[in-house]
Amino acid sequence: MKTQCLCFLILCLHLSPDRCLPVLAGNLHPLILVPGLGGNQIEASLTGAYEPTAAACRPRDDGWFRLWLDRSALLDTQSQICFAERMRLFYDPEADDYCNAPGVRTRIPLFGSTMGFRYNDPDHKDDWSSYMAPLVERLEAIGYVEGETLFGAPYDFRYGLASAGHPSRVGSRFLRDLAELVENASASNGGKPVIILTHSFGGMLALQLLDRLPATWRKRFVKHFVPLAAPWGGTVLEMGIFATGTNHGLPFVDNLLMRPESQSWESNLWLLPSPRTFGEAPIVVTNHGNFSASRMSAFLEGVGFSEGVGPYQSRILPLLQELNPPLIPVTCIAGTGVATAEVFVYGDGGFDKLPEIVYGDGDGTVNLVSLLAIESEWFSFPEQDLKVIKLPNISHLDIVKHDSALSLVIEEILEINDGALRANS
Ligand SMILES: *[C@@H]1O[C@H](CO)[C@@H](O)[C@H](O)[C@H]1NC(C)=O
Ligand SMILES: *[C@@H]1O[C@H](CO)[C@@H](O)[C@H](O)[C@H]1NC(C)=O
Ligand SMILES: *[C@@H]1O[C@H](CO)[C@@H](O)[C@H](O)[C@H]1NC(C)=O
Repeated sequence: MKTQCLCFLILCLHLSPDRCLPVLAGNLHPLILVPGLGGNQIEASLTGAYEPTAAACRPRDDGWFRLWLDRSALLDTQSQICFAERMRLFYDPEADDYCNAPGVRTRIPLFGSTMGFRYNDPDHKDDWSSYMAPLVERLEAIGYVEGETLFGAPYDFRYGLASAGHPSRVGSRFLRDLAELVENASASNGGKPVIILTHSFGGMLALQLLDRLPATWRKRFVKHFVPLAAPWGGTVLEMGIFATGTNHGLPFVDNLLMRPESQSWESNLWLLPSPRTFGEAPIVVTNHGNFSASRMSAFLEGVGFSEGVGPYQSRILPLLQELNPPLIPVTCIAGTGVATAEVFVYGDGGFDKLPEIVYGDGDGTVNLVSLLAIESEWFSFPEQDLKVIKLPNISHLDIVKHDSALSLVIEEILEINDGALRANS
């Protein structure tokens, strides 16, 4: 019966989309997309309090500009230095919270819409820049309509969340906005509960939202949670980012220039390999000693980021213990079989030189053990409806871009909707 219904929907689309789509669209559960870290635009404006370290990064009084991401503003060393100091966060021990660099105001444009994360740099609609655009197009092809049944929740991905008892102004604000978006999307669709579809880090935030709201709220407003490529237990790659910096995937960007900036992001601390998932295995090997996930504080000291140790221990470590089942249906989809950094071996050049990398299984960005961590974590909760789908040879980004991965994701979304149609008829 189930397969029949699903086939009908798909056949219908193929044969006569114009006649079928409105019917299907009227029955769809609203869907909210939450992008991954670095996936959406951030705008900034600089106030008088902004004091650039380099003369060329003058305070700008021309209002808001796109800070993340504007490739054309990152082409030379000078502009990379300016970019890094504007993207940097600071931990304020007195407030026990993170804040922007002095004089840098930021905001996230297009909350509620998917327009802020279809392309990494909206000025360039090429393959590199394309992020959620292919996924959104496939959702639209089965009847989803932006602003009616399809919504997006971009956020300031430099910030994270903290464990209970610690303020987290920016992250908590995002969770409140996301909850309100869920409620609104449901209300404007006849009270239908929503499907939350996330990529990567977006899944960790969505799980925190679900865990922090009462079961009655979850049952009323959320039909299904579909995390794609979520790094539940962090990723080994993050240790390389703290040690050597990252070029943010832009070959012309100098990773060492970005190192203080990437180290300063609270979200990067959260994404470090969790002791719960990675245990005692040496992840960073150096001439002077090895570091495992359970020796993270020593590692942060070792890479010269001792100011990260306090917040890591007080705010992040307890958060890593919170991987609670949301007790609403979850379909977890992850790529596997792509070479993924498992150990970084640093030689005589120390952390300034790119390490040798030992590879293991994963999606190229996140290790398999982390992608599948909820499977073992939730094993002892039979009341948690959990389906795990592994996609061989699908990378961390391919999962939202590659045709075969998208077909499977769309199939799952149709099945979730189809199951609901049957239940209601
Ligand atoms: C939800 O709807 C209310 C009422 O229309 C609106 O004021 C609010 O901005 C909406 N919030 C979000 C996050 O969409
Ligand atoms: C560090 O790890 C490497 C590789 O696993 C191992 O050969 C070496 O003995 C370890 N060194 C120390 C000091 O534990
Ligand atoms: C895996 O994917 C890559 C890139 O899409 C492709 O070049 C390669 O042939 C694939 N390998 C296998 C074993 O399917």
